[in-house]
Amino acid sequence: MSIVVTEPHPGVRQLTMDRPGTKNALDIASYSALSAGLQAADADEGVHAIIITGAHGAFSSGNDLADFRRNGDPTPARDLLRALVLVETPLIAAVEGAAVGIGATMLLHCDLVVAAQSAIFRMPFVPLGLTPEGGSSYLLPRIAGTKLAAELLLFGDPFTAEVAERAGMVNRVVPDGEALTTALALAARLGELPPKALRAAHRLLHKDREQLLAIIDEEITVFAERLRSEEAQTILNSFGDRSRRD
Ligand code: COA
Repeated sequence: MSIVVTEPHPGVRQLTMDRPGTKNALDIASYSALSAGLQAADADEGVHAIIITGAHGAFSSGNDLADFRRNGDPTPARDLLRALVLVETPLIAAVEGAAVGIGATMLLHCDLVVAAQSAIFRMPFVPLGLTPEGGSSYLLPRIAGTKLAAELLLFGDPFTAEVAERAGMVNRVVPDGEALTTALALAARLGELPPKALRAAHRLLHKDREQLLAIIDEEITVFAERLRSEEAQTILNSFGDRSRRD
């Protein structure tokens, strides 16, 4: 199963990315399951917080690299990004280990992000011959500042939880192994707030949804062109036969 859906506490829906052997890489089935899980949780009035996390000591290694080589269909990732933008229930991410590619950019859409001290983040789009996605070209300069955003998005080097916090991608850095328990504590606090005020405040915090959706689509158009390019395919094909699943 690629996405495990649980209810660790009443009113808290937990979506766990779980693809053993891939650091929870997102393939087409995972994108669909995660989008469906978000939409189902959001439609349930009894849910006051959604937690996204990963199994096997990682958050997510991003798009499945074999899928990148196999086909350039961006629809499943687009559907997930749209679901992340449109969700009306507070979204909390608990990050242990690696958060790479869309595994990092999805954090920009979460209201609260808790990261373990040794978590590693990376947005290696340009080194792979690709371009920033998930709204990152718009959101990251605004939250991190243009200089730090340029460094993180152009070089695509790995960076620490401390840098992620400085970039505004993370609310709290906690000791390793405590990301999920901290996220659950935050979810419990949200559950104590007056629910109608919470929902109205959440809506106000996300009032630029339409603009964000348009930017995500603009990014996807460029990304899809890049993915089909000889430049990107040469890099992706030379990059680690270890992750080849075809
Ligand atoms: N898609 C498919 N498989 C992946 C994957 C991905 N995105 N990322 C990692 N894997 C696989 C590896 O190939 C490896 O498989 P193997 O055990 O059969 O060799 C396994 O997951 C473990 O990965 P490994 O690299 O050994 O783990 P690590 O802890 O040293 O590093 C990452 C984890 C996520 C930092 C590293 O695997 C990585 O950078 N992966 C590529 C991520 C990426 O470029 N995603 C696309 C972004 S646009």
